[in-house]
Amino acid sequence: MNPHLDELNDFTFTRLARLLADVTAPVGLAPINLSIGEPKHPTPALIIDALRSHTASLAQYPPTKGPLALRQAIAAWIARRFSLPPLDAETQVLPVLGSKEALYSFTQTIIDPTRSNPRVLVPNPFYMVYEGAALLCGAKPHFVDYDASTGQYRWEDVPESVWQDTQLVIVCSPDNPTGTVTARERWRWLFEQSDRYGFVIVADECYSEIYFDEGAAPIGALQVAAEAGRHDFRRLVAMGSLSKRSNAPGLRSGFVAGDAALLAAFLKLRSFNGAAMSGTVAAASIAAWNDEAHVRENRAAYARKFRELTPLMARHLPVAMPDAAFYWWLPVPPSYAGDDERFTRELFAATGVTVTPGTYLSRPSQSGATPGRGHVRVALVAAFDECREAVDRMAAFLARPPLS
Ligand SMILES: Cc1ncc(COP(=O)(O)O)c(C=O)c1O
Repeated sequence: MNPHLDELNDFTFTRLARLLADVTAPVGLAPINLSIGEPKHPTPALIIDALRSHTASLAQYPPTKGPLALRQAIAAWIARRFSLPPLDAETQVLPVLGSKEALYSFTQTIIDPTRSNPRVLVPNPFYMVYEGAALLCGAKPHFVDYDASTGQYRWEDVPESVWQDTQLVIVCSPDNPTGTVTARERWRWLFEQSDRYGFVIVADECYSEIYFDEGAAPIGALQVAAEAGRHDFRRLVAMGSLSKRSNAPGLRSGFVAGDAALLAAFLKLRSFNGAAMSGTVAAASIAAWNDEAHVRENRAAYARKFRELTPLMARHLPVAMPDAAFYWWLPVPPSYAGDDERFTRELFAATGVTVTPGTYLSRPSQSGATPGRGHVRVALVAAFDECREAVDRMAAFLARPPLS
């Protein structure tokens, strides 16, 4: 067996299922699951229609690199969305089966386990795949803690000795779970650090299209790199996905774009790992990347939920509109003394609403703190009325006097 498997925690939702296994929701209240970031708005008809009309591709093995038409659609979308000159669809873009798969296999591509102390810098709290991908190829994650008082990750705390061993830095922007968008200055500083120490940066941007003000789209890493004259995107890739943008988490479709030399190595690995995209999925993906109307409609639905429901939740717990993405990152009430697992269990028992304990999205960092502890993540993915119902139930629960 791969000995690194023993270093992994069970995945977030396996732990959550275990936590709630012996808890029952109140009779008569339909359960509402706000724990998993799985979009529940309808998948647009243009994706479903394209799938139906491209079934002939099922009779062929798909090319690992994906069809040129898909790479061109992605390259054109990136250029439109981030105000960039068009990327080279031959060398700077690759389709992937969602960003989860890409995070795992790209880490495999980059990490050299034969160098001493291979390190991956990972934000904390974070999407668990970052850690799993690092550990399984023999690297050690170094955690960069979130500072709730500034709303930023503390990259400046990383010691010199760790920068020296760092081979890969993963940045999530907009961030799961905190909703933070990485600022321009921070990207620029990370690029300078990459020039100094030689590490590769992955920008996980799968939430880039979920934001609340049509006129204020979050910036992207490729955009900041190009603004700084780094048109070759050296040592940088960005990942995008149709899962959240186009409400198609089951399509398994995304991209990796950026540094052509890194993508050539990634393509080589992919010719062995079997993660080529079906031609049927590629056709549906082309339709999705070429259309923005459904994306604007989707955003409007999230904006309504966050604008109307955040003030209601803020009456009970300190929460503000996130910069972007579809999560609230809520501190548990003081009476729980930071015990987010107990809060999650009691909330479910009283209301039938499931949230994710922050502890399951975090690890004890070098300082000994677990920055996710004392928080829960709430994914406002369900339809408006269901989210409203969940907030009403949570409000009633939070208004109850604590048990002494
Ligand atoms: C931060 C982050 N990255 C990547 C993913 C994977 O998304 P997908 O593989 O559907 O593109 C998720 C899914 O929730 C996520 O939250």
